[in-house]
Amino acid sequence: MSNHKHIIVSGIQPTGNLHIGNYLGAVKNWVDLQNSGKYEMYIFIADLHSLSGKMTPDELRAQTRTTAAELLAAGIDPKKTTFYFQSRIAGHAELAWILNCLTPMSELERMTQYKDKTAQLKMSTAGLFTYPILQAADILMYKGEMVPVGQDQIQHVELTRDIARWFNKKYGAYFPETKHLLTETPKVMSLLEPNKKMSKSLGADHVIEMADEPGVIEQKIKRAVTATEGGGQAPGVINLLMLLQKFESGLSFPRLSTGESSYERFVKAEKDGTIRYGELKDELAKAIANYFADFRAKRAELLKNPAKLDKIMRDGAAKAQKVADKTMEGVRNLIGL
Ligand code: TYM
Repeated sequence: MSNHKHIIVSGIQPTGNLHIGNYLGAVKNWVDLQNSGKYEMYIFIADLHSLSGKMTPDELRAQTRTTAAELLAAGIDPKKTTFYFQSRIAGHAELAWILNCLTPMSELERMTQYKDKTAQLKMSTAGLFTYPILQAADILMYKGEMVPVGQDQIQHVELTRDIARWFNKKYGAYFPETKHLLTETPKVMSLLEPNKKMSKSLGADHVIEMADEPGVIEQKIKRAVTATEGGGQAPGVINLLMLLQKFESGLSFPRLSTGESSYERFVKAEKDGTIRYGELKDELAKAIANYFADFRAKRAELLKNPAKLDKIMRDGAAKAQKVADKTMEGVRNLIGL
């Protein structure tokens, strides 16, 4: 039997503090996959991708660091996972160019994220357009076979698979056919507009950040939308119940003496119409606040020690660089450079 460990690659943009959508859709999965010991893992901070947005250099510099500290505090272990800043590995941009030359424009025009983003802008850039190609380069650079992401990234991972096929067809088998990997909660919804994906771009009150203090969490959840007109199960309630299920281990007493969990109790109450949303919200706010207590402490500790953080990221980049150099040598040979 081959002892090849399957290769997992994923990344996150440093556009803001991590929120519970990032956590339940991606980050928790990364930590669990890492700790299973079954995979070769590459996790990076997609700082080059963030240049397609509107952060200032100072904001980008600060937030890249914070995002690194947050991923470490969430459980990414640089001894088990190659963890680095994308921009430190120059080959990503080089490989992206090579893949640009294989990708039809019509395929990029189909990308829903591109269409959504450009619809809100007066002027779109080539960077926004070719964004998914850089993402394909991020993945293929490490020959990523599985990419754990949330639902909004599936299309980009599918394009990566197509790009790998186009490359292999033209130049000879080299890249794997990448697949996405989802969690049970690939699309966490906004607190205020529960028919939309939780995203910071909707506004700060739509998301709960993992670093939010208990009082802030309580306030945000209090304002969360629950029942809507028209009857039936309201999307806001479904979202809050799902969050309770995922975070109830943060409660001091997640189970009643009957053995029923807090989540099960609220689901039952919702079905028989006796649910009190205020109670559900109190319970959920407590669960989330406690669940991330350890995270908040570790995050603060890491941010106090920038030299340590820098060293972790430098060491990670050195590890990634070795793999990237090997991939690029193979690519250049195949394509005739
Ligand atoms: P980004 O930074 O927007 O999000 C990081 C991860 O969080 C997931 N996510 C969610 N999951 C569930 N519910 C939500 N509300 C929610 N919001 C975000 C995203 O699906 C993602 O998995 N283009 C990528 C970054 C990237 C990348 C890559 C990812 C660059 N190169 C290579 C994988 C492989 C992005 O902007 O994700």
